[in-house]
Amino acid sequence: MAMWRPPERIRHAPQPGRWPTAEEAARSTLFSPIRVGGLELSSRTWVPAMVPWRASETGEVTTAVIDWYRRFAEGLPGAIVVEATGIADIASGPLLRISHDRHIEGLSKIVNAVREASSGQTRVLIQLIDFLTIRRRPEPQRFLRNFLAITDDHRRMLGMPQADEADVRERLQQLPEEFLRQILSPREFESYSMGYRERVTDTQLPHISDLPRRLPGDFAAASRRARLAGFDGVELHYAHAYTMSSFLSRTNDRGDGYGRSLSERMRLPLEVHAAVRHEVGADFVVGCRFLADECIEGGSDATDAAAVAAAFAVDGFDFLSLSRGGKFDDARQPRIGEAAYPYTGRSGYECMPSYYSDRVGPFGRNGAAAHAVRAAVRAAGFQTPVVSGGGIHGFEQAEAWLTQGNADIVSIARQALADPDWFRKVRAGAGSAVRLCLYTNYCEALDQRHREVTCELWDRQGLADPAVARSKDGKRRLIAPSQPDQSVEEFP
Ligand SMILES: Cc1cc2nc3c(=O)[nH]c(=O)nc-3n(C[C@H](O)[C@H](O)[C@H](O)COP(=O)(O)O)c2cc1C
Ligand code: SF4
Repeated sequence: MAMWRPPERIRHAPQPGRWPTAEEAARSTLFSPIRVGGLELSSRTWVPAMVPWRASETGEVTTAVIDWYRRFAEGLPGAIVVEATGIADIASGPLLRISHDRHIEGLSKIVNAVREASSGQTRVLIQLIDFLTIRRRPEPQRFLRNFLAITDDHRRMLGMPQADEADVRERLQQLPEEFLRQILSPREFESYSMGYRERVTDTQLPHISDLPRRLPGDFAAASRRARLAGFDGVELHYAHAYTMSSFLSRTNDRGDGYGRSLSERMRLPLEVHAAVRHEVGADFVVGCRFLADECIEGGSDATDAAAVAAAFAVDGFDFLSLSRGGKFDDARQPRIGEAAYPYTGRSGYECMPSYYSDRVGPFGRNGAAAHAVRAAVRAAGFQTPVVSGGGIHGFEQAEAWLTQGNADIVSIARQALADPDWFRKVRAGAGSAVRLCLYTNYCEALDQRHREVTCELWDRQGLADPAVARSKDGKRRLIAPSQPDQSVEEFP
């Protein structure tokens, strides 16, 4: 599936700037501790959620999942957020799940691995997600033959008011696409050309109308399990293309008190928070990730996000993590048999920009929005830590991000995937040994196809060694090679 490309295609190379000495790093803001609710992070560094597609088909933790997080912990970031983990007990392929007590034991193994590998220095949280149904793009004739619900509107538009359903289907199958576009409703045409996708505004569907009744309990139960599994906290996923983000969005026009005005759009996110807090108590860290800008036409922007952030801070969230874009609304048309992917349109590009970019480049695109959001939290009188990043790979860049007020904690996703040891190398004055992310988005392309996510900078190394764990096709190593010469003990 082709990705959206900015009109200007300038190739940007990583610009890590000067690396600090160990003494400079020790004096830096980045490597200074910070409180997040009742937790202390040893540094202001954060590996945000990244789905690596390693869970079992029933959403269970596997050895590969544990190894993946152990490897990040060896690099000693301040905190790791475990990938988006499903709270609903429904079949959802190899997406990790926390939807039932049977998952607690497996999840606790991730916590133990992170604690052990980091000697307790890295905090570990888990991202909790709810999402709506999305189907693959159907084969066109099959859609018209089997899936489309035939209505009197179709009969009227076709000039066949009395026709049998079978005759209407037959006629539709003969029509060229430009006529179909006129005869089908916009939603029917979307299902035909993109694949069926539910929205939070489909309140005619009982299970959608019922979301405000179901979700607080589901998020609360998942948070209870996270606490029992030993996590240091939970991150409620209110970002990107998923249910809670759609409630917050300016595009949400539900008429049942959960849409339209900003206060009604925030109502369910706040009710979910209240239910979670009630379940886990005041001493467990509860934060959320949401969008500083949806980057879609008619969507929420940084002004909305600033108001949301202030309200969330007042409500007692322990941290606010900011992302950007990543919506279905402007996703590219998928191939037949594939589902739309929310990181293919302009909003997707804003979420994970690649090295081919416009003049602004792929580094720090969320800076201005994150700055405005954090300023709103401070103006409301709260010190709630704000986590943000995007394209961060150099120390100077990360330090400036903090000192300029774009964040209190810097999130580093793809750079941590390229080199999980970024944190301890930089802290030890060995920044020049960092394997720099090139922002090629090879990893993101794997994510799109739900294949095990790896980085092209290391996934072919050492394959001759039979002990190296490999992807299902046997062609790629699953974990970044370790550097045993730099032990955890060297960097207190
Ligand atoms: C493979 C992959 C999987 C991701 N999965 C998630 C996820 O589960 N939840 C989430 O909030 N963001 C997810 N993201 C987005 C990242 O957390 C991050 O916001 C994004 O990559 C931009 O940061 P970066 O420039 O430091 O990579 C994912 C990114 C990648 C590359
Ligand atoms: S594949 Fe590696 S180098 Fe390319 S964007 Fe992903 S992490 Fe960076």
